[in-house]
Amino acid sequence: MKVLVVGSGGREHALSWKIAQSDLVDQVICAPGNAGIAEIADCVPVSSDDIPGLIKLAKEREVGLTVIGPEAPLCAGIVDAFELERLKVFGPNRLAAEIEGSKAYARRLAQRNRIPQPGFWIFEDKVSAQAFLENRKDGPIVVKASGLAAGKGVTVAADHDAASKAIRECMEEARFGDSGNTVILEECIEGPEVSIMCLTDGSTLVPLETAGDHKPVFDGDEGPNTGGMGAVSPMRSVMSRAIDQIEAQVLLPAVHGLNREDRVFKGVLYAGLMMTQAGPRLLEFNARFGDPETQPLMMRLRSDLVPYLMHAAEGSLEELAAPEWDPRPAVCVMATSPGYPGSYPKGIPISGLENVDCGPDLQVFHSGTARTGNEVVTAGGRVLATCALGENLEAARSKAYEALGKIEFRGMHYRRDIGRR
Ligand code: GLY
Repeated sequence: MKVLVVGSGGREHALSWKIAQSDLVDQVICAPGNAGIAEIADCVPVSSDDIPGLIKLAKEREVGLTVIGPEAPLCAGIVDAFELERLKVFGPNRLAAEIEGSKAYARRLAQRNRIPQPGFWIFEDKVSAQAFLENRKDGPIVVKASGLAAGKGVTVAADHDAASKAIRECMEEARFGDSGNTVILEECIEGPEVSIMCLTDGSTLVPLETAGDHKPVFDGDEGPNTGGMGAVSPMRSVMSRAIDQIEAQVLLPAVHGLNREDRVFKGVLYAGLMMTQAGPRLLEFNARFGDPETQPLMMRLRSDLVPYLMHAAEGSLEELAAPEWDPRPAVCVMATSPGYPGSYPKGIPISGLENVDCGPDLQVFHSGTARTGNEVVTAGGRVLATCALGENLEAARSKAYEALGKIEFRGMHYRRDIGRR
């Protein structure tokens, strides 16, 4: 079977790498992919938001399964379009993906299904949002653009001035385009952040191992948030009792709630949570695999991923046993372009990739890279990550950092404390 992976990031590199190992798969095609994915898959320059172009590609190449990586095509209805053409596809349809595409919808869904979450207030006009702030005691509050904002639409405001500025950015300056037309203000809550992903076909849930990312750009969780500067799996701080609690209180009610609203969710449901003193509280849902959480997860997954993707798409996950995992931890360290998450240059040559001895316990997953002639160059804010398995967390860290030390590009930045939380 041929599998088409849609996307061009580190998540898609890790998925392509894992899918390529399946006995069920003859060829992995990736659209559009990147320089690293091109080493293991046939990369075709069709953009991940070109839905007609992707359908044409899947038909021409007789693809047996298409796996959608990023959220934007999911929210734009790529799964609906593939299914209309009777093409097998892994991912939620447009209505189900709204759980990520509209944070306002996700909060209301959670409320209807009694999923524990912080207090929230939804505003569709700036006057009411600012008036609400003025009438509230000053203090920290979270401001979120409701729509997709590439991980940049959340501001944890220390006081009303900062919150008011964040509201203006969303609703007056349109920093996130239409995604900021609706704004959610949320009670600020505290605790360690945890993310849990599960595969689901709308009735059966297959929880994946825990993984956690490090969002702020600098060591010690300083600086602005990024898409993720690194990730670790498992998160040893999350006890299995807490995982059961999250499954029962968050994931199951969400999947059942979506079903009741005729939005059957097939794909990966990702819950970002804060483990407060009072228990888990929902921060957000994503409708896809996390990036970079997927990189260490794929290193640890011992079972073939492809049957899980197929059965989720077909609605028959109950037929599969739970997947097997490598008990060893995996650590993934991301290298980024100078200036990221602000503006950054592209096209900087990357050297030293050939010095990393990749194998089952060590991989370099490319996020934003391209090939120009004989050179691999930077092509995104997050450029690439080394990902290593080790007997313990420290061994996995050492291996990932040692490998990253062999790679260089001008202005390369990475955190030194991934896995030290
Ligand atoms: N690493 C966070 C995300 O994938 O949304």
